[in-house]
Amino acid sequence: MKNFILCHPRASSGQDPNQAIIVKCDIPQTIPIDHVLLEVDRFGFSANNVTYQALGETSHFRYFDFHHAPEAAGVSSKTHGVTPVWGFGTIIKSTHSKVHAGERVYGYLAPARYLLLPVSPEVNKYAFFVPRPHLPPDRRPYNQVTRCAGDPLYDPSPIVEDLTMLYRPLFWTSFWCEDWLNSSNYKGGSTQILLSSASSKTAFCLAYLIRRRNSLQGSSRRIIGLTSTKNLDFTKHLALYDDVFDYESFDTSLVGDCARGNCIYVDVAGNDALNARVRNHFRARGHSELIACIALGLTNVSPSTVNSSSANWGKNDFSVGAGSEALPEANPQVEHFFMPEWLAIRKQQLSVSAITQMQKEAWTKLMSGCRSWGVSLRRVCGPNQVKAAYEEIVKRGLAPGDAFVWSLWEETAETGSKAKL
Ligand SMILES: NC(=O)c1ccc[n+]([C@@H]2O[C@H](COP(=O)([O-])OP(=O)(O)OC[C@H]3O[C@@H](n4cnc5c(N)ncnc54)[C@H](OP(=O)(O)O)[C@@H]3O)[C@@H](O)[C@H]2O)c1
Repeated sequence: MKNFILCHPRASSGQDPNQAIIVKCDIPQTIPIDHVLLEVDRFGFSANNVTYQALGETSHFRYFDFHHAPEAAGVSSKTHGVTPVWGFGTIIKSTHSKVHAGERVYGYLAPARYLLLPVSPEVNKYAFFVPRPHLPPDRRPYNQVTRCAGDPLYDPSPIVEDLTMLYRPLFWTSFWCEDWLNSSNYKGGSTQILLSSASSKTAFCLAYLIRRRNSLQGSSRRIIGLTSTKNLDFTKHLALYDDVFDYESFDTSLVGDCARGNCIYVDVAGNDALNARVRNHFRARGHSELIACIALGLTNVSPSTVNSSSANWGKNDFSVGAGSEALPEANPQVEHFFMPEWLAIRKQQLSVSAITQMQKEAWTKLMSGCRSWGVSLRRVCGPNQVKAAYEEIVKRGLAPGDAFVWSLWEETAETGSKAKL
């Protein structure tokens, strides 16, 4: 039995970081005490993972410090990184007394067939934790490995497992970002929310949650999406935005009533030129004020491109109203939303059961709502196929209607390759 791991050169190594490599290596024969060996079954792959890779070496995020790159010919942790993925796996060996072989788990895994993880002494019926003392304590949500048997949100049907891998990491960011916006009454009663990369799952889940809040509060806050021309139809078809404009023409289209009132800009694209145009638009029109700029994502940043948005990410710790771009002309200054940091604040304000209840209700609604969004599931199985799929993303980007679930295992009759959600 051999392991296969998807790795990428670190940009600091001087090699092309877009060059995917599948490393074939041995699986550990002896499992150290308090460790588990997982068979990684399958995992979701979206722009979120491309961002993890792009920020793999940045000092605040350090996404390459979650899993070790294997030591193999020409590959090491110094020269290569492993991009984390959210996926399902099964424990096949355990040397921890409270965690057992045969358990189904969900967590922040590696794109591999097998993964060896250390386990902290603290284990409860919902989860165990991977000790990562080299990372800041607020990274705890990434260190949590959920034990499916005790997870109130778990549904073993393959389609719900797939939806979980695709939406869970993004939806909770959108969910807690909306909660954060709501905690300030949308920055003092803003009447419009403008989102870039509106076709991305993170952006449209946020639009969906703002819509829900609107209907609960009887509010008519407008939700406006900005997207690429090629993704305009998909984004309109979602029916989650009040208006959708393309990047080329939004400055001329975003006029009239929908340009009045205070506006919050939630930036999921991380495109400096676009952000400058958005600011200029509001500055020039005068009758509508941009009162907050929230940096939420970096879909336009690839592992081989760095702009000031990505370079500035995480330079300031997130707290309400903090985290600024610190450019004198950037008014309002950029606030970075990083979900683990806001969740740590909410955990001091709300009980665990209140948080669990809020999440359960939201997740149940999402699982029925998301099926009408025209997103098709695309399963890609096998090391060569996964490498080819990654290379295709580098060449063509990610189409919003395709949701990827990848596996380093070869395709079987059960896994199939395509399913309509
Ligand atoms: N702050 C946080 O804690 C947090 C948590 C979760 C996710 N995020 C971020 O949210 C972003 C969206 O993630 P997702 O997984 O939801 O995305 P996704 O659904 O995979 O988004 C796909 C969209 O990204 C844009 N895109 C894809 N490839 C591109 C390329 N090569 N160049 C330019 N644009 C491209 C396109 O949108 P348009 O045409 O509409 O621009 C495309 O429709 C990521 O940057 C992710 O890291 C942040």
